[in-house]
Amino acid sequence: MTTEDPGPMPPATDSPADVRLDPATRTTTHLGHIFHIAGTPTVQEAAAALVEIPDGALTVDDRGRIVYCGPRRTRPAGPARTERVVDHGDAFLLPGFVDTHIHYPQTYSTDAYGGGQLLEWLTACIFPAEARLADPAFARQIARDFTARRIAAGTTAALVFGSAFAVAQHALFTETRAAGLRIVSGRGIQTVGPDSAAPLLTSDADAIAMATDEIDEWHCADSGDPTTARLQTAIIPRFALSVTADTLARLGDLYAEVRPRGVYVHTHLNENNRPGDGEIDSVRKLFGVADYLDTYDGKFLPGSAIGGESLLGRRTVMAHAVHCSDTELTRMAATGTSIAHCPVSQLFLGSGTMPWRRTVDAGVTIAAGTDVGAGDEWLIPRVLSDAFKVHLSEPGFASVALHPGELLFTGTLAGARALDMEERFGNFDAGKDADFLVVEPDRWPALAAALRYGIRADDPTAARDQTLFTLLLGLREPAITEVYVAGRRVQPPD
Ligand code: GUN
Ligand code: ZN
Repeated sequence: MTTEDPGPMPPATDSPADVRLDPATRTTTHLGHIFHIAGTPTVQEAAAALVEIPDGALTVDDRGRIVYCGPRRTRPAGPARTERVVDHGDAFLLPGFVDTHIHYPQTYSTDAYGGGQLLEWLTACIFPAEARLADPAFARQIARDFTARRIAAGTTAALVFGSAFAVAQHALFTETRAAGLRIVSGRGIQTVGPDSAAPLLTSDADAIAMATDEIDEWHCADSGDPTTARLQTAIIPRFALSVTADTLARLGDLYAEVRPRGVYVHTHLNENNRPGDGEIDSVRKLFGVADYLDTYDGKFLPGSAIGGESLLGRRTVMAHAVHCSDTELTRMAATGTSIAHCPVSQLFLGSGTMPWRRTVDAGVTIAAGTDVGAGDEWLIPRVLSDAFKVHLSEPGFASVALHPGELLFTGTLAGARALDMEERFGNFDAGKDADFLVVEPDRWPALAAALRYGIRADDPTAARDQTLFTLLLGLREPAITEVYVAGRRVQPPD
């Protein structure tokens, strides 16, 4: 990267009229090879909304807002003294990745061998690992490491499944704020579970009290305003098997109270379908519901009778949703509830494949989640890579080759939409916060070589798509050299 003398500005006639700058505005322009998904497309429209600007400029004002994204030669003119130009050379500029499902207490649990699928893995490996966060020194360390991994992976915004322990959540929010990243998180709520989960369990009353305290302390703690805050909170029952009907009733009451403050809900849905004793059958048997989603929709009494308030809505994200009925998909779409799609994790735990076409056709927003630690990758493009593979491998006519634009959309703009923050970040539209990554392929030789020597079509659009595909599938952490949130460089913790 070099900081350039601004030099002569482009002629004013080249400047699009709507991007003329107030001469007093101080700006920074980042030069590089830009890819993003412009506008507000659906996933089906994402390929058409893909923008590539090889000789690109991203101009950011002193509040961290994007004032221009386009070709370098037509960037808006301003007095040279108010413009700083950073030339990133051959590097790519991409929107920051959005991880809509990641477990902070599982930072050290990727590749944990539990000798089985979801429920065995949770009982043998995960509950004991999560119990360690009760120790404040351990909590501070894991919060630092979690934050550092996020930065290394370019995850500028994340919906983070939290720890059972307030001390650990405190460490997480503190580190995240110091780094300048965006987060939505909440303590993982468990009121029932096997012996190995005992240290994570609380009474219903304590669960409500702790969630309330966390919301009061951390929700919008930085700006006080849900439309600008980087720190936000969620109510997070671990999954239906970790709570009772009484817990769900009380969580419904709490959510009805805090929903107007912009608080989120996050949990797991329809992940493991092993017949008999797997997650989904266990939920159906335990609650006597028709559909798993009913437990989160206030219909958690036998026969799916109404027992309380719904937890669904625009600020609710369900992780996995692999094995949904049509009724569940329709209900999620109707309520604006989104899905965190986690194919890396689904492969790791043998959870199956979310039917892509059927889920898209239902109209539910699908964003990407690493699901660390069941997901053994921190990098959202690794999730997109596995999404490409598993959906191409779906049986018969369900097989789909996701377009590189759809992949980029799923890892960026769809994540912002799932978090109900699309108007703030997710792409490089003017007016949004400048959340972006600098990717230097030379820092990962395999990527650099694939970009340089890979076959490219003669047709420029097809060649563009191939380049983006190579970039997304070949990307690894070392090639992400700079991470920015709202125009400011994010630094890892000391
Ligand atoms: N379901 C309940 N808890 C978990 C968890 O920690 N990870 C995953 N993948 N699924 C869950
Ligand atoms: Zn999970």
